[in-house]
Amino acid sequence: MSAPEGDLDRFSLPVRWVHGLTGLFMIVCILTAAVLYNGSLAVLVGHRYLVEQTHLWSGLALPVPLLAGIASRSYRDDAGRLNRFTSRDWAWLRSRTRRDGRIEVGKFNAGQKLNASLSAGSIGVLLLSGSVMYLTRLTPLAWRSGATFVHDWFALAVGLLVVGHIGMALRDPDALTGIRTGRVPLRWARREHAAWAREVTGEVSGETR
Ligand code: HEM
Repeated sequence: MSAPEGDLDRFSLPVRWVHGLTGLFMIVCILTAAVLYNGSLAVLVGHRYLVEQTHLWSGLALPVPLLAGIASRSYRDDAGRLNRFTSRDWAWLRSRTRRDGRIEVGKFNAGQKLNASLSAGSIGVLLLSGSVMYLTRLTPLAWRSGATFVHDWFALAVGLLVVGHIGMALRDPDALTGIRTGRVPLRWARREHAAWAREVTGEVSGETR
């Protein structure tokens, strides 16, 4: 829906809550993981049991907002868009001049779709491998060492992904306003997500992915 002052609704309240809580749990996981993994940091921070428990519970909490969000229609709609990779997305990824707006982008660009899939997939792998590591009495040693290897490498990869995501977000104040307040300036939407802007303002009928 467009507003008179030239802003567009981009993210509903449930979507922003899911994003905020997932981000919070993820950052807590990453910071506590760094302390658990790095000896010097562990000595500096101390309280190893508390750090371990905080890591465990924020890890277990990670999927909760993502699953609870399914109750919201706007969240399901955004998840559906993120989950659909079109031929235009491939063209956008291959293009060296992808930012010039010649390939019109829908609500999310191909980089954002990849980020969403990699984040969701990594959360699943980290949860599974973390559970195998935690359930010491139920899993054989070979499984636990395999799970530790997977957990460590995925943690590093997801850490880099999150740092990249935050870095990009901090360079785009309008996108930050969007995830904070739910609204973005129309001129930003036309520049970054032209097909979606035309869909929301009613210039094209139907949904642009
Ligand atoms: C730490 C875990 C986080 C995860 C897994 C995550 C994941 C996502 C996903 C999947 C999206 C939708 C598509 C995309 O833009 O990539 C998104 C949007 C966004 N995120 Fe995050 N996020 C996290 C943390 C953060 C943080 C801490 C910030 C702020 C500094 C942030 C800023 C944004 C912004 C501004 C958008 C909206 C982009 C747009 O409107 O196009 N995210 N996030």
